[in-house]
Amino acid sequence: MMLFNYYFGLFLLVHTRYLLAYKCHECQGMIFNYSITIDNIPSPTRDDCKIITAENGCSVSVRWFDDGTSEVYYDADPDLSFDTILAKTERKVTTWSGEYVTNRFISYNCKPSNTTPCNTVDNLKLAIISTVFPTDEQIQKFDILIIPTTEFYGSLCLQVSNMTYCPKTNILSCQQCIGIIQYSEQIDICATCPAGKAVTNFFDYYTIFFLNNQTQLDRITLACRKYGACNSIENIRRMKNTLITKFDFDKFFQSTASIIKSTTIILFMMFIIGFVHGDYRE
Ligand SMILES: *[C@@H]1O[C@H](CO)[C@@H](O)[C@H](O)[C@H]1NC(C)=O
Ligand SMILES: *[C@@H]1O[C@H](CO)[C@@H](O)[C@H](O)[C@H]1NC(C)=O
Ligand SMILES: *[C@@H]1O[C@H](CO)[C@@H](O)[C@H](O)[C@H]1NC(C)=O
Repeated sequence: MMLFNYYFGLFLLVHTRYLLAYKCHECQGMIFNYSITIDNIPSPTRDDCKIITAENGCSVSVRWFDDGTSEVYYDADPDLSFDTILAKTERKVTTWSGEYVTNRFISYNCKPSNTTPCNTVDNLKLAIISTVFPTDEQIQKFDILIIPTTEFYGSLCLQVSNMTYCPKTNILSCQQCIGIIQYSEQIDICATCPAGKAVTNFFDYYTIFFLNNQTQLDRITLACRKYGACNSIENIRRMKNTLITKFDFDKFFQSTASIIKSTTIILFMMFIIGFVHGDYRE
């Protein structure tokens, strides 16, 4: 009897875990030789896509590359916070060739409320239409900050930090000034010249939009190699003012509501049709 209880308990535990577990679409990365728009988002129905059980949540994302190609990902349990939209703009220059590229990224990260995956085409579409990225013109204004140069003195980089994790300056082996500022409820700064190679100079602007409380976290990273303190707080502040990604929470939620509404209407219609049909038969 005790053994039975044990197994029954185990069964309940496993079963409950199964019931509480989240279902997500998961696919191999999909690569396209054109730019993905809201009109051509691929649905997770290819052979290599499956619905899997996730511990934490689901995600669907697009990455747009400078050469006009794009990638779409359907994932379970990404390493991100849920109930969020993440947007990232990246500008980099290869130091030896002087070639500049811009890449953009957006992901919708959610916890499914029941057994239906939430990483869907519709949700990604909503995320995209509610987001306004900085324009190429705005981005290119800051190329001057990352211009490749040969003259570099690591000791001239700004060095200051109140961020929890900030790599230490290593004057002997550093090749690039790094400046990171994170703006959330507080401002955290990391300015340093850490050890390591610098194949590209870059800046990236990363924003998390929290859907639960309609707040956002902005994080800007600038990796530059110029004579002087190119990683200054002032330079990063100017980027914050110009390159901010805008997200329209109202648009997002209104559109979500309208999709739910139309689904409800369709279900209602199906119910009525089913009802009439059933009635007719008798
Ligand atoms: C894009 O890919 C399709 C099929 O994979 C191919 O037919 C087409 O020629 C490609 N277009 C370009 C511009 O590479
Ligand atoms: C970190 O430093 C910046 C600039 O000095 C300051 O505005 C900010 O409040 C500081 N943040 C914390 C967490 O101390
Ligand atoms: C908003 O929600 C996020 C995620 O739950 C949390 O980390 C953040 O501190 C919240 N911000 C405010 C201002 O309440």
